[in-house]
This record gives sequence, C-alpha cells and structure tokens, in this order.
Amino acid sequence: MRETLRAIVCPNLYTERLLLRPFEMGDAMAMFGWACDPEVTRYLRFHVHEDISESKRVISHWIDQMKNPPFFHWALTLRETGQVFGSMGIEVINKTDRSGEVGYCLSKHMWNKGYASEALRAVLHFAFNTAAFHRIQGCHAIDNPASGKVMEKAGMVREAGPLRHWYYSDILGYLDSNMLVAFSDTWQDSGR
Ligand SMILES: CC(C)(COP(=O)(O)OP(=O)(O)OC[C@H]1O[C@@H](n2cnc3c(N)ncnc32)[C@H](O)[C@@H]1OP(=O)(O)O)[C@@H](O)C(=O)NCCC(=O)NCCS
Repeated sequence: MRETLRAIVCPNLYTERLLLRPFEMGDAMAMFGWACDPEVTRYLRFHVHEDISESKRVISHWIDQMKNPPFFHWALTLRETGQVFGSMGIEVINKTDRSGEVGYCLSKHMWNKGYASEALRAVLHFAFNTAAFHRIQGCHAIDNPASGKVMEKAGMVREAGPLRHWYYSDILGYLDSNMLVAFSDTWQDSGR
C-alpha cells in the first residue's frame, strides 16, 4: 500500500547541544528578540514584528496548528541553559507526495556557531525516519549564502537555481533563490 505522511504530534528532538521543542506562549519575548530584528528577517517571508503582541499571535497560531498534525515547528533551545534562540519548521507541501520545505531563523548573536546545521540534521532525520517525508526542499536567497551552507552541511544538495523572484521579502522585495533538496532514500546524516 502507498505510504502517506504520518499525522504525528510534533515531538521533542535532541542533538548534542540542542533541544528542539514545540513553542510555548512563554517563548514570546525570546521570539520577539529575533523577529523584531530586520537583519534576521530581511531574507524571510514574514515582516519585522513591531510589537510583542505579533510574536504572541504567531506562537498562539502555531500552538493551535500543532493540535492538527502533521504540523512541525520547533523552538531551538540550548540544552544546557534552556535559552530559546530561534525557530525551525517543516511546511508540508503535499501529504500524498510526502513533500515538505524547511525554514529557520536564529537570533543574530547565535549565528556561526553551527547551531542551525546541527538542528537541521535532527529535523531531516525526524522527517525521513519518523514522519515519512520523501522529499524535503529548502530555498535560500542568492544573497544569503550562509543559509545555503546550512543545508549543504546537513546533507542537502542543490537542485535548481537561480529561481527568479521565487519569494517576497517585506524588506527587499522579490528575491532570486537557489533550491536545495534531500530525499528519504538517499539522504545521509553527514554528522558534520
Ligand atoms: C542562515 C542562518 C540560519 C545560519 O545559522 P547558523 O547557526 O549561523 O548556521 P551554521 O553555523 O550552522 O552554518 C553557517 C555556515 O555558513 C557560513 N557563512 C556565514 N556567513 C557566510 C557568508 N556570508 N557567505 C558564505 N558562507 C557563510 C559559516 O561560515 C558556516 O559554515 P562553516 O560551518 O562551514 O564555517 C542564520 O544566519 C539566520 O538565522 N539568518 C537569518 C534568517 C535566515 O536567513 N534564515 C534562512 C532563510 S532561507
């Protein structure tokens, strides 16, 4: 019988340094810390949060969505301190085809410590081995090569690009993008 995406509740994921867990309302202040920063959001689809109430609204929406699986969105936290410093999620593109797209963002002071690629490896492992995704893609603006590097370090490979005006940023307008991809039957956790 044809396999379908599993409607499982978004679980905690553990890596060496991180705990990825579903968002809680108490994370709103931490989220506002990165969502109000135009340097963080410039390559993202969502606009800069002007008030913490916007962060509360987003988290409340995610908590609601979580009750209706499959919906996968995690707060990135440090295992050692519990500090919440970013978010990562898989948007389901098509349940029957078992395809999804990853997205992520981190507070600026946490960049370039290997956290995004460490988290993404755990997310891909979950996506292929537990949730039964077959294809996971990710897009990054041409001018945001660090995001492409994150996906490469997590074992994704470039499939297409530059894709003209692939998505719209409130700050920069339409952005050209590269697409990277990984598949359940060939992805290997590089552990890098
Ligand atoms: C993109 C982002 C998630 C990276 O997170 P991170 O935790 O710093 O990523 P990692 O440390 O795991 O890896 C980043 C890699 O990119 C490299 N890098 C950083 N800036 C770079 C640049 N301008 N050009 C090329 N590579 C760059 C780093 O050196 C590192 O590679 P290395 O480990 O081989 O040295 C983070 O910068 C961020 O949240 N940016 C704002 C939101 C965003 O752009 N999200 C992605 C949207 S597609």
